[in-house]
Amino acid sequence: MDPLLLILSFGFLVGVCPSRILELSDNFSDIRKDGGYWLIKFYAPWCGHCKKLEPLWGSIAQALSKTNIRVGRIDCHRFPSAASEFGIGGYPTIKFITADTEHMYNGDRDKENIIKFAVRMAGPPVQLISQSKNLDSIKSMNNLFFVYVGEHEGLLWNIYHDMAVKLQPHVYFYSTNSIQTGDIPQVPSIFVHKDDKMYFYTAEVTNENLNVSVSKWINEERFETFPKVSRGNINELIQTNKCLVLVIVEENKLEQIPVEMLEFRSMVENLVKTNRSKYHKYFQFGWVGSPELANSIAMQVLPLPHLLVLNSTNHHHYLPENDCTQMTAAMIDSFLERIVNQSVPAYGGDGFWIRIYRMYFDTTTSLAEMWVGNPILTTVLFGLPIGFLSFIMYSICCADILENDEDDEEKEEEPGKWILRANTYFTSVPNLCMVGLKFVYFADSHEKED
Ligand SMILES: *[C@@H]1O[C@H](CO)[C@@H](O)[C@H](O)[C@H]1NC(C)=O
Ligand SMILES: *[C@@H]1O[C@H](CO)[C@@H](O)[C@H](O)[C@H]1NC(C)=O
Ligand SMILES: *[C@@H]1O[C@H](CO)[C@@H](O)[C@H](O)[C@H]1NC(C)=O
Ligand SMILES: *[C@@H]1O[C@H](CO)[C@@H](O)[C@H](O)[C@H]1NC(C)=O
Ligand SMILES: *[C@@H]1O[C@H](CO)[C@@H](O)[C@H](O)[C@H]1NC(C)=O
Repeated sequence: MDPLLLILSFGFLVGVCPSRILELSDNFSDIRKDGGYWLIKFYAPWCGHCKKLEPLWGSIAQALSKTNIRVGRIDCHRFPSAASEFGIGGYPTIKFITADTEHMYNGDRDKENIIKFAVRMAGPPVQLISQSKNLDSIKSMNNLFFVYVGEHEGLLWNIYHDMAVKLQPHVYFYSTNSIQTGDIPQVPSIFVHKDDKMYFYTAEVTNENLNVSVSKWINEERFETFPKVSRGNINELIQTNKCLVLVIVEENKLEQIPVEMLEFRSMVENLVKTNRSKYHKYFQFGWVGSPELANSIAMQVLPLPHLLVLNSTNHHHYLPENDCTQMTAAMIDSFLERIVNQSVPAYGGDGFWIRIYRMYFDTTTSLAEMWVGNPILTTVLFGLPIGFLSFIMYSICCADILENDEDDEEKEEEPGKWILRANTYFTSVPNLCMVGLKFVYFADSHEKED
């Protein structure tokens, strides 16, 4: 066949292939009652970040078309009642919805992670490994997962199952009653697989505080040893209640990192991987590819590469005094030791004035970026009613301060509350269009399309 014809007919095939994204409306609340699994994007046409997600959403719908998960979207501008029914606070919001449950997707908006999330949510919270050869295929698909070895009965199983239900949006949980890999210290037992190693939960299973102790262990082990940290997962990492040791580098659009930053990152990665047991008790390591997140925590523009340690309990942060490019593994080790014995100055925290200052820093930084990107539009925006700034302040801050004031009174560290508190702490999420911030983000999307 003529190659041109081939291309044309291929183009035609692609062209007629029906879109697999279902356009839903405010009657979705009735439709969901009929059952089934739904992956829904709540969006608004004016939101720039929604536009960025659009092509991805098409290919996710394509990839999930062979599963029993239906992919749809709801235009919350046209159907505001759907937005209020599902409690949508920013666009885009991705939710996995069944007849009686709904879970928000909080991770990075990339195809692989969103698909994994949907497929995991559509399965049972604990998936059965029937033959031990299946373990190898699981290993090839996931770097990190939990496995329960034993009969499905008893306290340990109940706790494991509870945790699996709770953490299903984030991690994989499996169970098996026969396994041939390595030595199982006892049956029943639990292990986590990460970085190609198995780590067992080692405390006594007859322990009185088994529930607390297993939940804490799972919560601490559910992260990779050296994950990439972003606005999407930092709220989860904070719940380890450890200190986060973050290597700050800058990735360009092609996810490339300059050599000297890469060297520094590899050095830290190597240190934590070879000395895991030493740091495991106090620290969770990770690296950040976009300096804005780190700058917002540190409330200053950090030179790169940099090291930033954030105590997730009191939100104090620590910075090394030395130039990071000159630091050796031994110097980092001693810096971390001094954090543990509290002989390094702590900055930040979550006091009222610190929050106000952080807000001020975040707002001025993003306005400065806007100015650089599009000075005329920014000027025009500032020519508009003075209400503009107070509007932003009102939308971002007031809700934040009010909620946090409530939190401050409640010193009890109940997990549910923590999520709320952590979320409001890092509230100015740049890749989310806040409801009510139409003008700012419209300008943003405009600028990128030009
Ligand atoms: C829901 O609304 C859409 C468009 O608004 C309509 O096409 C569809 O028939 C409705 N479905 C039900 C079950 O009411
Ligand atoms: C463990 O504790 C949590 C909350 O403290 C509770 O909801 C859950 O039912 C407990 N699990 C078991 C198996 O006792
Ligand atoms: C980390 O582990 C390596 C290899 O086990 C060891 O040589 C090194 O001294 C350890 N570093 C620190 C700071 O403990
Ligand atoms: C803290 O640890 C550092 C490094 O090990 C040590 O030099 C220092 O004396 C310690 N300080 C206190 C107060 O224990
Ligand atoms: C983090 O802060 C908490 C609460 O102030 C404190 O108990 C803990 O020791 C700190 N962690 C480290 C590693 O300094």
